[in-house]
Order: sequence, then structure tokens, then C-alpha cells
Amino acid sequence: MSSQPGRRLDSRTTDEGDDVAGVVELDRHAAVEAQGLVKHYPGVEAVRGVDLRVQAGEVFGFLGPNGAGKSTTVRMLTTLLSITEGSARVAGHDVARDPDAVRRAIGVALQEAGLDPRQTGRELLELQARLFGMSAQTAAGRARELLALVELEDAADRRIKGYSGGMKRRLDLASALVHEPEVLFLDEPTTGLDPASRLTVWDEVRRVNDRGTTVFLTTQYLEEADQLCDRLAIIAGGRIVREGTPARLKAELRERRGLAAEPTLDDVFLDATGRTRDRVAGDVQEVSA
Ligand SMILES: Nc1ncnc2c1ncn2[C@@H]1O[C@H](COP(=O)(O)OP(=O)(O)OP(=O)(O)O)[C@@H](O)[C@H]1O
Ligand SMILES: [Mg+2]
Repeated sequence: MSSQPGRRLDSRTTDEGDDVAGVVELDRHAAVEAQGLVKHYPGVEAVRGVDLRVQAGEVFGFLGPNGAGKSTTVRMLTTLLSITEGSARVAGHDVARDPDAVRRAIGVALQEAGLDPRQTGRELLELQARLFGMSAQTAAGRARELLALVELEDAADRRIKGYSGGMKRRLDLASALVHEPEVLFLDEPTTGLDPASRLTVWDEVRRVNDRGTTVFLTTQYLEEADQLCDRLAIIAGGRIVREGTPARLKAELRERRGLAAEPTLDDVFLDATGRTRDRVAGDVQEVSA
């Protein structure tokens, strides 16, 4: 890695807020950066030129309808899928050129958890910790901590094949946290969870983020995005159609449509993906000035 043209400043040498006039500091605090990301499957253009920039320390929401390209983007950013065109850097490392460095810096909980059904939850977490270089004793302690965190202590020594869907998701989240990653990718972490488990995951996302982990989160729950995310992007048909803070996106819609009341993130989502409430509700809604 002798030359890294995209990396202009080492963040450790620059204090927060120390803006140098006239210097374009593209990468200074970027945890995730994608430029012109494209993915073609045979006959399908799943992702069609996605640009993203997630600041270190953010909780970033990635929203979009089914089939929009969220998981495909996450899989490219996490080195699990080849990139057809474009480039991406995660935690300062080029995804295509230095996938091992990216893998060491990230934690990933995918939409379909890849758990070994024959293991117990505790075995899985201890194995993960050992793979990250922890001693047997440290690994056992870390597993205990994480099992408590996702409230799976009672099920810790049962085989995963007997876990419910929600328990598997929580275990998968715990396994993504084993090595306190710099960037955590969560693809729909709360889909299929009961309301209490969902809140547990929200708390955990906040706690992990407070400790300095950047979180890249896809979700179908707009309230979740509103509660958790500093900024978000909406993808539709493989392209980013909105990006900003939840407050800014709502304000922009309110202004553009001349709405009397503050719209919800649901309204922003429907507007961004080419659907409106009136169409969804069967052309019954009147527009009030
Ligand atoms: N392995 C694959 N082979 C071919 N096409 C695929 C493959 N995986 C995804 N696709 C297609 O790529 C597009 C984007 O899929 P992707 O899984 O990224 O969507 P998503 O936004 O994650 O959707 P969801 O909300 O349903 O999880 C879809 O048209 C999908 O059918
Ligand atoms: Mg998906």
C-alpha cells in the first residue's frame, strides 16, 4: 500500500473541527465511501451507480423498497460480493484491493444469518472470539458478555437449530460485535423481532455507536431510522434518490409540497420511491394548502 491517492489526511493527525481553508478533505472522517458503485447480475442491474459517504461515528440508515439494492450494496461494501464497476473504501481501506483489511475492521450481520445450526450460541461466540485472536479465557468472557447483552443467557448452551428466528437474529448481532468493530454493517437487524427485542437491538446499536463504532444499518422500519439514524439514504431501483438527516428530508418535503404539518419519514419514503399516500390510499387524500 505505498500510494493511496484517495487518502489525503490521516485522521489521527487532525483534530476535530480543525478545518483547513482551501483543502478538500474528502476522506478525513469517512468510515464508508462509495463512488459509482455498480452491480450487475446476469440480466439484472441491481445497483446502478451508488455514491455514499458515511462519516466516522455516524449511525447511517440505508432505506429502500424490496429489491432496491440494499443488500447487494452491503455485500459489496463488506467484501462478500464482487464490484462490477466503481470503488469503495471502508475504514480507510479499498474494498477490492485490500479486502482482508476491510474484514478486520468490520462486523457484519446479514439479512440471512449464516449460523451453524449444530453449534450452541456460546460455542459460536467463543469460536468467533478465538478467530479474532482472543485467548480461550478472554473469549469465554466476551461470549458471556455478549450473551447477556442480547439476552440469550438462558439459551446459551442450546443448539442454534432450536432457536426462534428472533433469537437467531440477536445471536447474529452478538457475533458481529465480538471484536468491537470500527464499522458495523447491519442488514435489517430488527426484521422479525418482537417489540421488546427490537428495543434491545436499538439500545445496543446506540451503545455500540457511543463507544465509537460507525453503524451502517438497512431497515424497512422508518420509525427505527428516525430514532436511530443521524443521516440516511434512500435507494430505489439501484440508485440513491434521497440523502440527508431525517429532519432535513422531512423539512424539504414539507416545503416542496407546501404541507401544513410536518410529514413523517414514511411520507418522505413514499415520495422518494415514487409513491404517494393518496395513491396508496386509493386517491382519497385531499391536499390542504
Ligand atoms: N444472487 C442474485 N442473482 C440475481 N439477482 C439478484 C441476486 N441477488 C439479488 N438480486 C436482484 O438484485 C436486486 C436487488 O436485490 P437486493 O437483495 O439488493 O435488494 P434489497 O434492497 O436488499 O431488498 P429487500 O428489502 O427485499 O431485502 C433485485 O432485483 C434482486 O432480485
Ligand atoms: Mg435485502
